[in-house]
Amino acid sequence: MMFSKPLLALVLAATTAAPALAQLPGSQAATQLVGTWSSGSQAVKTGAGFANPANESFIYPATTGISYSFTTDGFYEIARYRFVSNGTTPQCVTGVMNWAHGHYKIETNGSIVMVPLGDGYQQIQDPCAAQSDFIENYNYTETYVMYQIFLDSVTGYKLHLFQFDGTPLAPQFQISTSPNMLPTQLLRNVTLPTTVVARRALELDNIEERAAESNGAVGGWSVGGSVGAAMTLFGLGLATLAM
Ligand SMILES: *[C@@H]1O[C@H](CO)[C@@H](O)[C@H](O)[C@H]1NC(C)=O
Ligand SMILES: *[C@@H]1O[C@H](CO)[C@@H](O)[C@H](O)[C@H]1NC(C)=O
Ligand SMILES: *[C@@H]1O[C@H](CO)[C@@H](O)[C@H](O)[C@H]1NC(C)=O
Ligand SMILES: *[C@@H]1O[C@H](CO)[C@@H](O)[C@H](O)[C@H]1NC(C)=O
Ligand SMILES: *[C@@H]1O[C@H](CO)[C@@H](O)[C@H](O)[C@H]1NC(C)=O
Repeated sequence: MMFSKPLLALVLAATTAAPALAQLPGSQAATQLVGTWSSGSQAVKTGAGFANPANESFIYPATTGISYSFTTDGFYEIARYRFVSNGTTPQCVTGVMNWAHGHYKIETNGSIVMVPLGDGYQQIQDPCAAQSDFIENYNYTETYVMYQIFLDSVTGYKLHLFQFDGTPLAPQFQISTSPNMLPTQLLRNVTLPTTVVARRALELDNIEERAAESNGAVGGWSVGGSVGAAMTLFGLGLATLAM
């Protein structure tokens, strides 16, 4: 590494100036991961208070945020409530409620791969869009390239997750060491698009469009059609909104 001396001094000062924060070593972090985590003001929490998958509804928390839960036997659940603002039309703020659960695995390289069961869904509210409020299936495998758990002498355990592209999520505090989750099984029936062959050309076009969107969204979570732009905004939003 090519650090200039003043810069190196600064880096060292920065690392030594925070004695209250200790990062857990890998093995300990894997154990400590089990439980429920929540960002910011901790209004968003996985479990019965957030999503009702059976009727695809949500209970809106008081403030935005994210929450992740992990069990010892390899299940996860995610609850997310976000606003995405649009620089072009600042009055058009899109709200997104998102819920999913499934199996997670910590890979030997330290990544966490989360594979959904298939019953996840999200609600998009965009007052400026032609379709201003809709619910859609959400079934994307999410890879987090790295995770870190810190023990903060004031706020306790803190989880840092890094998305597939390295973007950090808002830090989450451990609000419970026993995971607070909905049952870890399919909680609603989802119809798979298996009858594509029998459909007419027009419908096929639509399906292909949605497939293209899905591919673009792998690893992140998308808002409506503007996948790329929305993901970038989420990265920023997560880092700034919910600290
Ligand atoms: C969905 O189900 C929950 C739990 O039974 C109920 O409280 C809620 O009112 C229902 N919501 C809608 C929109 O039907
Ligand atoms: C959801 O995604 C998982 C993992 O890719 C897949 O096994 C499952 O079939 C999908 N379910 C639905 C309903 O699309
Ligand atoms: C770690 O392994 C997983 C699964 O093999 C892979 O998807 C991911 O890209 C790897 N992460 C890094 C940082 O190489
Ligand atoms: C799915 O549908 C089957 C058949 O209608 C029903 O027995 C089952 O309870 C449903 N499962 C859920 C999770 O709603
Ligand atoms: C912002 O709004 C403009 C105009 O409504 C739209 O074309 C664009 O796709 C929006 N951008 C995002 C990131 O939603």
